[in-house]
Amino acid sequence: MSPLKLIKNKTYINGEWVAAADGKTFAVYNPFDGTRLADVPDMGAKDTQTAIEAAAIAFEKWKKTTATERANILKKWHQLQLKYAEDLAILLTTEQGKPLKEAIGEVRYGASFVEWFAEEARRSYGDVIPTHSSDKRLIALKQPIGVVAAITPWNFPNAMITRKVAPALAAGCAVVIKPAEDTPLSALALAALAEEAGFPAGVFNVVTTRQPAVVGKELTANSLVRKLSFTGSTAVGKLLMRQCADTVKKVSLELGGNAPFIVFEDADIDKAVTGAIASKYRNAGQTCVCANRFYVQESIIEEFTKKLIKAIQQQKIGSGLAEGVQIGPLINEKAAQKVADLVADAQQKGAEVLLGGKPYELNDKGHFFEATVLTNLHTEMAIYQAEIFGPIAAIYSFSTEEEVIKLANDTNYGLAAYFYGRDYARIWRVAEALEYGMVGINTGMISTAVAPFGGIKESGIGREGSKYGIEEYLEVKYLCFGGL
Ligand code: SIN
Repeated sequence: MSPLKLIKNKTYINGEWVAAADGKTFAVYNPFDGTRLADVPDMGAKDTQTAIEAAAIAFEKWKKTTATERANILKKWHQLQLKYAEDLAILLTTEQGKPLKEAIGEVRYGASFVEWFAEEARRSYGDVIPTHSSDKRLIALKQPIGVVAAITPWNFPNAMITRKVAPALAAGCAVVIKPAEDTPLSALALAALAEEAGFPAGVFNVVTTRQPAVVGKELTANSLVRKLSFTGSTAVGKLLMRQCADTVKKVSLELGGNAPFIVFEDADIDKAVTGAIASKYRNAGQTCVCANRFYVQESIIEEFTKKLIKAIQQQKIGSGLAEGVQIGPLINEKAAQKVADLVADAQQKGAEVLLGGKPYELNDKGHFFEATVLTNLHTEMAIYQAEIFGPIAAIYSFSTEEEVIKLANDTNYGLAAYFYGRDYARIWRVAEALEYGMVGINTGMISTAVAPFGGIKESGIGREGSKYGIEEYLEVKYLCFGGL
């Protein structure tokens, strides 16, 4: 199969490839050069209802299948994703921009959730509870929650779908996926492979749209949907959560971050630089777990900054499909403008630009920004609280452990944090004091299907991946057997 064969112009609802009810479409562009890649259905509320109703009907049968039956189809889907990994990755790079090597990494990462939850399907045990009364027996049963809506982001157009959908399907739920309007093609390619894997009609549905508010409203208001899983901005997450309140849906929200990356003076500086590059420049800085604020202890800030700049200068910017490129384009014009505005605001308020600092002119259609290093930053600058989502390293200095913990926690976000150091007593203290859902210690890469991914505070609710991930799609039912 070539990536072109995976490009779909219709979307997948109730086991069929369909157009929008009103025939409307929208174009998908390559963020590298603005090439028009495809036109896909621009679905509205009515199409969304159709998908939800199909899922609700399919759920009635799917929930009665055995865990092994579901696991077998998931395993087939997983194998197909690995078989077509390169095609999926080329498609992903073409619509999203990230370097091909990263795209292949994302496809494998995405597939690993499918494999993991195929295995977990058979382990969603309930409990026999020691009884409180000799004439009664008590059981806690786990049951699939029902129709699940998954609203997924453009920064990981493949893996954020599998991370939500695999546990939902493994639990026995049916899904309606709304992919981001910038990157619907990876979702449709995954649907094509899901069809080939043999999911029954209606179990796996995709609603493509460039009217996210309209579709989001239907997905949150429709009482047939019992669970919403969303990855995206905190502002949209709050809105969706409010919209889910009327039908009291269970929600999982993986929202924004403002990750501190702390380097203590006893750290291995070279390793800290490697970790900083991995965390900051993955996907051109467009991840929720990206290092957003570098806090470096005063005595080593000069050495760390020098080494970081040297490492950044070795990163090549360009087309994600070109050999040796590590930094691709930003997703769209709005994203590039946001990064430019943050840098301009910091500069106006006294920041020093040590590297980069402006849009990178590669062609007249791509949205590139230079890999940038800023220092002399303070809390009044927008960059201090904003999720940067671009290739900007913002460096702050600190003197004591107590001070840096305070600074690191001075945010409404609480997704990921990182620190480098060798004193093991301090490692424990700092790991426990950081108010974050995930902490990387002497590493800049924390993501894996086997560990719980998620945030606290305004970074979200719930966990994805790991043994906890499937629980988000299950209800606990208590059975009380009396009269014994
Ligand atoms: C994200 O940025 O939303 C996800 C990143 C990851 O899974 O590593």
